[in-house]
Amino acid sequence: MAMPVVDTEYLKEVDKARRDLRALISSRNCAPIMLRLAWHDAGTYCAKTKTGGPNGSIRNEEECAHAANSGLKKAVDWCEEVKAKHPKITYADLYQLAGVVAVEVTGGPTIDFVPGRKDSTVCPKEGRLPDAKQGAPHLRDIFYRMGLSDKDIVALSGAHTLGRAHPERSGFDGPWTQEPLKFDNSYFVELLKGESEGLLKLPTDTTLVEDPAFRPFVELYAKDEDAFFRDYAASHKKLSELGFAPSGAKSCCPDTTVLAQSAVGIAVAAAVVICSYIYEIRKRAK
Ligand code: HEM
Repeated sequence: MAMPVVDTEYLKEVDKARRDLRALISSRNCAPIMLRLAWHDAGTYCAKTKTGGPNGSIRNEEECAHAANSGLKKAVDWCEEVKAKHPKITYADLYQLAGVVAVEVTGGPTIDFVPGRKDSTVCPKEGRLPDAKQGAPHLRDIFYRMGLSDKDIVALSGAHTLGRAHPERSGFDGPWTQEPLKFDNSYFVELLKGESEGLLKLPTDTTLVEDPAFRPFVELYAKDEDAFFRDYAASHKKLSELGFAPSGAKSCCPDTTVLAQSAVGIAVAAAVVICSYIYEIRKRAK
């Protein structure tokens, strides 16, 4: 578990906001657009200049009006209802929490959520989010700029298991899967099937099957949903924490916790062995 950078009162508010988001998302069936909001707030990050990222700036009119964000005003307004009840919580945390809850309530993996993001009103330059009409080099340009990898690109694209495209928003039309309110690995299953009537494939989706470095991940996730859920949860956490170091770098990493626990275990075992050795020697000396 990561060390929180906020006080206990803030953590309690996060818990309440999480419950409110669950109720709001279930009653309005709006998990897909909430997840897209979280991604579009975070996906502007530039690792080199340390600008953009999950900082709540998408709520501002100028950024919300960027072409890539078409349709997201609705999700911003819904989050405002939760913000009004929990004003302490930053927009940055709220949008990322909404993304995590959206995945959870639709049956996806549990994503570790660490609060403490700061809000910004600085609008990044338009064009930092991916253009669905382009191919692999563009996808890599965009995601590598954020500091993410090929595996992150494929795992995160699996979020298209939820929702659909709307002609009046992106110009594309239709869902990627048969059950667009269920978070599972069917996006990858459909991708490998090729064209299916009524289902959408963006040029960037098709790229994932065609590119030799992306394809093995598509194949793995299509046949092994556990592997997809594990990698998706890790990549989503990374995306939601771009430019945000919850507890000063590595101490929040579960692997480090496991290592620390093993070290304590070894130390205790060594102490027991040494004590019994001393006890034996003393016994013999008597
Ligand atoms: C890989 C590059 C990506 C491209 C080019 C892309 C493009 C798009 C497009 C064109 C739409 C349709 C928008 C509309 O017409 O309503 C869409 C929807 C969506 N995207 Fe992506 N996307 C990408 C990655 C992601 C990622 C990383 C996530 C989340 C982790 C995500 C989550 C979603 C969701 C949930 C929807 C459905 C929204 C709804 O139903 O209202 N996308 N995406």
